Amino acid sequence: MLNAALSALAFATAASTDFTSSSSSSCQHRGKSCTAQQRAQALLSQMTWEEKIGQMGGVRRILSLDSTINPNYETIKKTQNGQMGFGPMFNWAKDIMPLVNSLRLEQVNSSRLHIPYITVTDSINGLLISGGTVFPSNLAMSSSFNLPLFKGVVEAIREEQLSIGVKWVLSPPLDVAREPRYGRIGELFGEDGYLIGEFGRVYVETMEEKDENGYTKVACTIKHFVYGDARGGVNTACQYGGINHLFNDQLRPYIHVLETTSPASLMVSYATVDLVPMSANEYMLQDILRDKLGFKGLIMSDAFSIPNLYTQSKTATSLEDAALQALNAGLQMELAPGNPPAFPTLISSINDTRVAKLIDAAVLKMLEIKYASGVFEQPLANLNVMNKTLRAAAHLDLARQMARESIVLLKNDGLLPYPLKGTGKLAIIGPFGDILNPGSYAAVNVSNARYGSSLYRSAVSAFGVDRVTFTQGCDIVDTTNATNSIPDAVTAAKEAGFAVLMLGSLSDAPEDMTMAPKRTDGEFFAHADLGFPGLQQELLDAILDTGVPTVLILTGGQPFVLQQSTLSRVNAIFHSFLGGEFTGDALIELLTGRVNPSAKLTISMPQHTGAIPAMYDYLPSDDQGGWASLGYQSAWQFPNLTRTVPMPFGFGLSYTTFDISTPIATVQEKNKAVVVATTVRNTGTRKGKEVVQVYFRPATTRGLEFPVKRLVRFEKVELAPGESRDVNFNIPYKDLGVWINAKPTTFMGLYNIWVGSSSREEDLRMVNVTLV
Ligand SMILES: *[C@@H]1O[C@H](CO)[C@@H](O)[C@H](O)[C@H]1NC(C)=O
Ligand SMILES: *[C@@H]1O[C@H](CO)[C@@H](O)[C@H](O)[C@H]1NC(C)=O
Ligand SMILES: *[C@@H]1O[C@H](CO)[C@@H](O)[C@H](O)[C@H]1NC(C)=O
Ligand SMILES: *[C@@H]1O[C@H](CO)[C@@H](O)[C@H](O)[C@H]1NC(C)=O
Ligand SMILES: *[C@@H]1O[C@H](CO)[C@@H](O)[C@H](O)[C@H]1NC(C)=O
Ligand SMILES: *[C@@H]1O[C@H](CO)[C@@H](O)[C@H](O)[C@H]1NC(C)=O
Ligand SMILES: *[C@@H]1O[C@H](CO)[C@@H](O)[C@H](O)[C@H]1NC(C)=O
Repeated sequence: MLNAALSALAFATAASTDFTSSSSSSCQHRGKSCTAQQRAQALLSQMTWEEKIGQMGGVRRILSLDSTINPNYETIKKTQNGQMGFGPMFNWAKDIMPLVNSLRLEQVNSSRLHIPYITVTDSINGLLISGGTVFPSNLAMSSSFNLPLFKGVVEAIREEQLSIGVKWVLSPPLDVAREPRYGRIGELFGEDGYLIGEFGRVYVETMEEKDENGYTKVACTIKHFVYGDARGGVNTACQYGGINHLFNDQLRPYIHVLETTSPASLMVSYATVDLVPMSANEYMLQDILRDKLGFKGLIMSDAFSIPNLYTQSKTATSLEDAALQALNAGLQMELAPGNPPAFPTLISSINDTRVAKLIDAAVLKMLEIKYASGVFEQPLANLNVMNKTLRAAAHLDLARQMARESIVLLKNDGLLPYPLKGTGKLAIIGPFGDILNPGSYAAVNVSNARYGSSLYRSAVSAFGVDRVTFTQGCDIVDTTNATNSIPDAVTAAKEAGFAVLMLGSLSDAPEDMTMAPKRTDGEFFAHADLGFPGLQQELLDAILDTGVPTVLILTGGQPFVLQQSTLSRVNAIFHSFLGGEFTGDALIELLTGRVNPSAKLTISMPQHTGAIPAMYDYLPSDDQGGWASLGYQSAWQFPNLTRTVPMPFGFGLSYTTFDISTPIATVQEKNKAVVVATTVRNTGTRKGKEVVQVYFRPATTRGLEFPVKRLVRFEKVELAPGESRDVNFNIPYKDLGVWINAKPTTFMGLYNIWVGSSSREEDLRMVNVTLV
């Protein structure tokens, strides 16, 4: 069968083809006169129960690591054949796509009703297989505060995904990163609900744009409903959440994205919320998501979250019971059916009319997504388009620009920029100095130069091999002698007279067998300690002891706790997060001042592992517990901690200075909006970009405690030295509101409004306004 399919490839890749059966209702034809829903309905009416249930799952990994077909492929596809995914990240797109196309074609040709797979994949840094552009992770990209640039990146990712036949992505994540120990923060857009909502909106709008034939380009999945405050930062851990907590914190990005876009699907979280696992949480999925938030798309499980009901949470008596509970709660697709898969067991309950109805509704949604995205007409990747699209020059430029705007300058005592003129030397030190650190959903082998340039390789390109040394100094995690050479690093720092240490936490693909054992970040990890793993702190201390000018570069999808002795002695600090394949080049440009830093933290840096959460929008009562008359200012005093951390959300430095004027706020009673006006001026000597941030707080909120401040608008502006610009923000009353018992309310009366360059009090100017 495969041979027949392969022989048809030339024809299939050349042009759009239609394999839809022509034996039935006219609405199955390609004709534009029928909607996706009508076509789905017409097809559904011809399907057997086995065929319907087949659409509710698929084969998540059709290939194995050596680019051959997964040995379980034929078995799984007998019962689960709605969607497919590629499998291992280290297969190269160009190598596997002919085989992938042949399997796609075989499926169209061999299924009775010629129903194609839809290709579903994760999409965090770009493609989940090798050969695409590797963009920074979401936490890095959110730090750019640059939505137009982000839109360009999403367009590039979309075109690369489309070119390999991906019509559906498992993005964007809308989890609110309020638990810094959580290992997947690198995949998220930070700790602020408004910022996440804006990045999520742009993502969905851009991915789901219509093509010239009216098809959705790439369907989106918002996820993980609902997550962010998990106990201990553990991937599947429970979280609590009363109705006000949900609506005012965790659901804020969902509310914003659902008000402004129509994402095709949503994935539930692994979490047990209010003691009910999300894969069986009818209240959250029906009462909240469907009824209150009005979500109309398809609801899917996370990988293995349905069997987890039986095997992990023990809230189901069998796999069959788990499948029934999941279906009844609202799940419509099993993301990565295991062995055995859950949903095929539903066949034994098919005479239950409720079950039958729910299956029909689920399959209808699945087919609608397939019709709406044009997968019936174009089930294969066009290899010519793929060759032109992957790593297109414009995409590489966007990845570079995003890396430059994603790296946050956290400290600079004046050492930087450091142009390294003449014969000046540079010692690159640390276990991250010559590898990449892309994130656990990036198709990158971190020690392989084919995937991008490390800091060391970028430095060599910039200054020549004679002026740059690299000394690892210590292993990422291993504390034994064999891998550590701190004295060598000390010598290298002294010889060069300028040291750049790159330290952090590795977030890497699970397939990277050499490096994976050194991971401490990414999916499946929680950070019990927010300092550096291994002997990295010892290495840093030894270099600082030399007194050689030193820059510290942090890497990892997490905030780090920096020791007082580090903060006081190191000359400059950057956080590069998981910056994509051009991290090394961008760091050299930023160190030398060819590019002026403009990123801002979107996750606050805690002062101590025990002093969390560290988010900027805490409640007023979160800062109590001390006894002022005895000198205890708050519950956060040990050792000398403040509730407001020195490097919070919104904070980041530049090589120039800006002045943001005291805002003027005007209430437009008729439009029910507040207009906030400010002028931002570059008061330094270099061109630069500043993020103007607007925060607010209702002076009193009867019936509900409100955070000390909350972001409501931001805008990034570029200014030449001496140049100034007026920046105005229009803020409808609604955006200043809260949710009380799931109802939106905006308090009238006094509001405090702050405008400035970060969420720190000293970086803000205030104005009061009264809503009437
Ligand atoms: C589909 O299968 C039929 C027979 O099963 C074969 O005649 C036909 O050529 C195949 N078409 C393609 C495109 O593979
Ligand atoms: C459903 O009902 C039909 C007709 O009564 C019967 O033939 C079939 O065996 C039943 N299926 C199941 C799974 O119980
Ligand atoms: C795509 O490029 C690869 C090598 O770069 C080549 O082998 C292949 O034939 C090209 N495919 C198409 C359809 O152009
Ligand atoms: C990753 O790259 C390194 C260095 O090139 C290589 O030794 C290793 O085999 C690669 N790992 C995988 C899984 O491809
Ligand atoms: C390193 O090796 C030396 C010599 O074998 C030993 O004395 C020392 O304790 C070792 N240090 C560590 C940290 O293992
Ligand atoms: C706390 O601050 C005081 C005054 O700055 C300082 O003397 C003391 O060493 C600090 N304590 C710790 C544990 O850092
Ligand atoms: C704004 O209102 C607060 C009370 O919420 C008050 O403490 C503050 O002084 C006022 N600031 C200005 C600039 O009017």
